[in-house]
Amino acid sequence: MNEEPLVINSIEGPIAILTLNRPQALNALSPALIDDLIRHLEACDADENIRVIIITGAGRAFAAGADIKAMANATPIDMLTSGMIARWARIAAVRKPVIAAVNGYALGGGCELAMMCDIILASETAQFGQPEINLGIIPGAGGTQRLTRALGPYRAMELVLTGATISAQEAMAHGLVNRVCPPESLLDEARRIAQTIAAKPPLAVQLAKEAVRAAAETTVREGLAIELRNFYLLFASADQKEGMQAFIEKRPPQFSGR
Ligand code: CAA
Repeated sequence: MNEEPLVINSIEGPIAILTLNRPQALNALSPALIDDLIRHLEACDADENIRVIIITGAGRAFAAGADIKAMANATPIDMLTSGMIARWARIAAVRKPVIAAVNGYALGGGCELAMMCDIILASETAQFGQPEINLGIIPGAGGTQRLTRALGPYRAMELVLTGATISAQEAMAHGLVNRVCPPESLLDEARRIAQTIAAKPPLAVQLAKEAVRAAAETTVREGLAIELRNFYLLFASADQKEGMQAFIEKRPPQFSGR
């Protein structure tokens, strides 16, 4: 039995760092681990002191996928009724910015988890891929859709059909990763970006995330409507008044989060 928490939540001011903590199984995403992750993410989303969330992994993996041992004997009805994979959608539904600090393997569900985040930083040792084909299945937590949007249809098809992995550098060259860092500076780089975002007005951050996400999830027409609605909405915020007044008065803004 694992006495350690499956997800370690460490709060550093406005930043929550969630560490997947099943290193002996390369952070395989068991239902219990996913439930814990969702619980922490939703608690962070509801806590107005938290502005940005970082997800990383303990040991040599970010996550080596959904837990194969937990699925091996499942029937389709087990998969359906347990919601084992369907409930991962709650991870992508978090409204605050989530940064993936990918420290090692991000395979299968691990790659899909990284792609549910908003910014992906990778250690030089990270590897990305969707190897489900080797198990007689296909990606089930968004891989065929999000990887295709990130890499384009031909590269995504090759990875999904061959099960091959790509390095952090290749992933960055193809637009899946924002930047590649030496392993020892990965978390500090994630903290640095998180601090920058945490200092911005949080309502604008949230509505910006929603609008950028819409680009991948809706038509351009719908996405433009969401953008314009959010743009208008922010004129109801104290932070818009403060941000613009501070600009006019040539002083730094003091955002209140309202
Ligand atoms: N599920 C369950 N256990 C896993 C796991 C997974 N996805 N990945 C690794 N582990 C376990 C191994 O079984 C092993 O446990 P034991 O020590 O008890 O045998 C331990 O983690 C260490 O793994 P390895 O000994 O295999 O380590 P390695 O360095 O030789 O290989 C690896 C590393 C290449 C990542 C290899 O572990 C691997 O191929 N893992 C599976 C990757 C995969 O197929 N992921 C997709 C899963 S399905 C999915 O995610 C569906 C979806 O879309 C939601």
